[in-house]
Amino acid sequence: MDRRSGTTLSSKKEALMNIESLRTAVVGCGGHGTNLAQAVRRSDHLQLVACADIDVGAARNAAALTDGASAHGSVEELLGIADVDAVLIATPHDALAPAALAAIRAGKHVMIEKPMALNEEQAKEVEFAAASAGVTCMVGYSFRYGMAAYLSKLLGEGAVGDIQAITGSIGTPPMTDDWVAQVRRGGGPMLYVGCHLMDLALWFVGEEPTEVSADVSYRGGDGVDESSAVTLGFSGGRPAQFVVTQQASGFFYDLRIIGSAGFVGLCGRTFGQFEIDVQSEVLAAYKEPATLRPRLWGDHITTMLMPELAEFAAAVAEERPAAVTATDGRRVLRVIDAVALSARTRQPVGLTPTLSAY
Ligand SMILES: NC(=O)c1ccc[n+]([C@@H]2O[C@H](COP(=O)([O-])OP(=O)(O)OC[C@H]3O[C@@H](n4cnc5c(N)ncnc54)[C@H](O)[C@@H]3O)[C@@H](O)[C@H]2O)c1
Repeated sequence: MDRRSGTTLSSKKEALMNIESLRTAVVGCGGHGTNLAQAVRRSDHLQLVACADIDVGAARNAAALTDGASAHGSVEELLGIADVDAVLIATPHDALAPAALAAIRAGKHVMIEKPMALNEEQAKEVEFAAASAGVTCMVGYSFRYGMAAYLSKLLGEGAVGDIQAITGSIGTPPMTDDWVAQVRRGGGPMLYVGCHLMDLALWFVGEEPTEVSADVSYRGGDGVDESSAVTLGFSGGRPAQFVVTQQASGFFYDLRIIGSAGFVGLCGRTFGQFEIDVQSEVLAAYKEPATLRPRLWGDHITTMLMPELAEFAAAVAEERPAAVTATDGRRVLRVIDAVALSARTRQPVGLTPTLSAY
C-alpha cells in the first residue's frame, strides 16, 4: 500500500505498526481459504474485510468470521466493490493464476496458494504482472512456517554440514472428489502436495535444479498422476529423490537431509503431528541420534498459517520481496513441468537456471 503512495517506512517496527490495517480479502473459501480467513481474524497485522467464492454461501460463511466483512460471488465483483489492500487466493489450481492476475492488475498485494498456477508459463505471467504493478507477490508454501521451520533452524545452525543428498516422500489417500481428481483443473498429488517437497528441497539446497528424471503412473479414467518417483539434480551435483503418491492409507510426509556432518529428518502425519530426527557432529546436543517432538501451542492455523501471514504482511510493509517469491513458486512449477515431460519421453530433462521473469 505504501509502495503505491511512495511513502518510505523508516524502520521495521514502524512498518509493523502501520500494517495493523492491511485490509485483506480471501478468494476461494473452501477448506484452506477458510483456514486462511481464520488466521487473518486471529492476526494483529491483517484485517478480514471481504471474501469471494463462486459458491457465495462459502464466501458468506468465511465472511461471517469477522463483523462487517462482505461476501462476493467472484474475484471481479470483490475487486469492484470492496476496499482491500491485499488478496489471499485459495481457489482450485486452475483458478489461482487468473484470480491472482485480476487482483494484481487492480493494484493489490497477493498471497497465492501453492502451487501458484498450473504450470511455469502461467506462473511467469503472474510473476511479471506483479513486478510490473510493484505489488508484493508471495506463494503460500506454508510448510516453511510450520514443520519445516524446525529443519531450517537446525540446518541454519550447521547441523548437517554440507548437504550431500535429500530423500523424501509425501502421500494422500486416493483423491477422487471434485477438482482434485481432474487433470485440467490441476488435480493429482504432485501439484497438491508434491510441490511442498520440491519447494523444501529447492529452499534447503539453495541451488538451481539442473536435471529431472521421473517415472509416473497415471490413473485410468481421469488420467491424474497416481504415483511418481522423481530424481532431481542440482548445479552442485547433489541428488534429491522423491516419491509422491495418492495410494497411501492416510496423509503422511517424510523428508531427510543428509550432510557431511549429520542428518536431519522430518516425519509427519498431520500439519501439527510430526517428529524431527537429528544427528550432528557439529551440535554437541545431537552427537547421538535424537528424535524431537516439538510441543505446539495451538492448531496449525496458529502455528503455521499465522507466521506465514505475518511474513506476508511484513513484506508488504517493508516493501521487500516476501520470503517465498513468485520466482520461487515458478521454479517449483518448472520442476513439476519437467517431471511430466520426463515421464512422457522416458528421458531425463535438463533445466537452465530459473532467471527472474522481469
Ligand atoms: N498451504 C496449505 O497448507 C494448503 C492446504 C490445503 C490446500 N491448499 C491450497 O489451497 C487451495 C485450495 O485448496 P482447498 O483444499 O481449500 O480446495 P477446496 O475445494 O476446499 O476450496 C476451493 C474453493 O474455491 C472455490 N472456487 C472455485 N473456483 C473459484 C473461482 N474461480 N473464484 C473463487 N472461488 C472459486 C470453490 O467453490 C471452493 O469453495 C489450493 O491451491 C490448495 O493447493 C494449501
